[in-house]
Amino acid sequence: MKFGAVRFVSGISLLLVSTVPLMAAEPVHLSIDASKAGAKVDRNLFGQFAENLGHGLYEGIWVGPDSAIPNTRGIRNDVVNALRVLKVPNVRWPGGCFGDEYHWRKGVGPAGQRPATLNSAWGGVVDANSFGTGEFMDFLDQIGSQAYVSINVGSGTPQEAAEWLEYMTAAQPTALAKERAANGHPEPYRVPFLGIGNESWGCGGNMTADYYLSQLKIYSHFVRNDNPSQQGPNQMLKIAVGPGFPETDWTETIMKAWQHHDWSWNIDGLSLHWYTVPNGWPPSTPSTGFGVEEYGKALKSTLFMDGFLRKQEIVMDKYDPQKMVALVVDEWGAWHAALGGTNPAFLVQQNSLRDAVLASLNLNIFARHAGRVRMANIAQMINVLQSMILTDMEKMVLTPTYYVYKMYVPFQDATFVPVAFDAGTYTQGSATLPRVDALAARDASGKLWLEITNLDPEKPVDLDAEITGMKAKSAKGETLTAPAVDAVNTFEAPNAVVPKPFSANLKNGRLALTVEPKSVTVVSLEP
Ligand code: AHR
Repeated sequence: MKFGAVRFVSGISLLLVSTVPLMAAEPVHLSIDASKAGAKVDRNLFGQFAENLGHGLYEGIWVGPDSAIPNTRGIRNDVVNALRVLKVPNVRWPGGCFGDEYHWRKGVGPAGQRPATLNSAWGGVVDANSFGTGEFMDFLDQIGSQAYVSINVGSGTPQEAAEWLEYMTAAQPTALAKERAANGHPEPYRVPFLGIGNESWGCGGNMTADYYLSQLKIYSHFVRNDNPSQQGPNQMLKIAVGPGFPETDWTETIMKAWQHHDWSWNIDGLSLHWYTVPNGWPPSTPSTGFGVEEYGKALKSTLFMDGFLRKQEIVMDKYDPQKMVALVVDEWGAWHAALGGTNPAFLVQQNSLRDAVLASLNLNIFARHAGRVRMANIAQMINVLQSMILTDMEKMVLTPTYYVYKMYVPFQDATFVPVAFDAGTYTQGSATLPRVDALAARDASGKLWLEITNLDPEKPVDLDAEITGMKAKSAKGETLTAPAVDAVNTFEAPNAVVPKPFSANLKNGRLALTVEPKSVTVVSLEP
């Protein structure tokens, strides 16, 4: 497997923000030449992160085979059915900070014989280790996704990690492969992505870049994937810890060394973590009960992602002009204050229309940087931070962010088509923001998909899109909005923020549409 390096050379942002504010009625003109094919919008940009944290795994995914909540081998059916719709390309597990404290042996073998341990990374709660390697792989099979396993560099050893990989991937009759077979899986598992540590500059061991580099070389060499189907072009991609801060010295150290790497070590990706924390650390923004000013502040803060990626890309381009090493944004999303009445270590927050708009802005940024950014993982999948799904025992609700991911499914592996437009600006309190954002791509059947985000919480936007390079016959789509920026879906009212059908006018190669304030809209144009 390759991250598809050379296919992404033209991920250039065409978002032009004018300095003169537009009048409310001023339409936005878009120009789209559907014959101009850019990079592939890698489906791995729509990856997710499921750490052993709070109720992310336990209750969110795992309820156990004896639960009254309908499940398949302990994994809840409602969650699986909802996630299948999103075509989740990969899931990062077991951490996060938890990953550097995880010892895989405690999570294999007969359920009744697994030891109870403490989850010291997140709240010191007792972990029964019922959800281990086999359960994670079963979950992936059930939702139709792929493994992104993050190995323990902080408190583990290269031997422990090497043995975990042998347990998961060896086809030969080794003791570890036989143990896997005895635990119910004779066939080797596939591990397409391997994370070598997590935030090693912080919770992963507070290492210097040079110290981490020496560890990286050791782990990269000794931790092997033995699965016969993952040799040669399909081999596992190794992802090194990258920065979680705008400074570039960590990236410099890793990439400079990588430039001269020999046969004995290699990486295919460098990770990057960047959360939207609108008021800075510690997170203090409420996830419900806020107004348009806080909304504007959060969007302004999320747009920082673009410059952050660019800064790191400049360094990577210096040492890797062929873009062989991908930038992997394997933790991103909105981090708000924990909901009152919840364990603060469980990072529980509601998910509003604001978070949905913020998700679309980030996905569009990733797609425009697709030359280098070829994988991303929103934090996190269920019940933690900016999640897709919230559960409370047998109840489940899909969040506005879930619906954004659903609407973006057609962009997975589609071909980026540049959109030229003048976004204009709007000002909300102290924040001046673009009025709109847009993304276009063509799928394998030739359909053109156009996404429009209207950031303005108060004014609709009229758009006039000139489409050349294809003869579009019809246009239809869906839009996601709600009366208030802090609108949320709850167990009692699960359909407050759900996509509605959307119509657009198509005449002589021009598409006219009006998008509602604070909305995410996806339209498809049939050739
Ligand atoms: O996603 C929550 C935490 O944020 C992760 O465990 C860690 O990697 C990051 O700091």
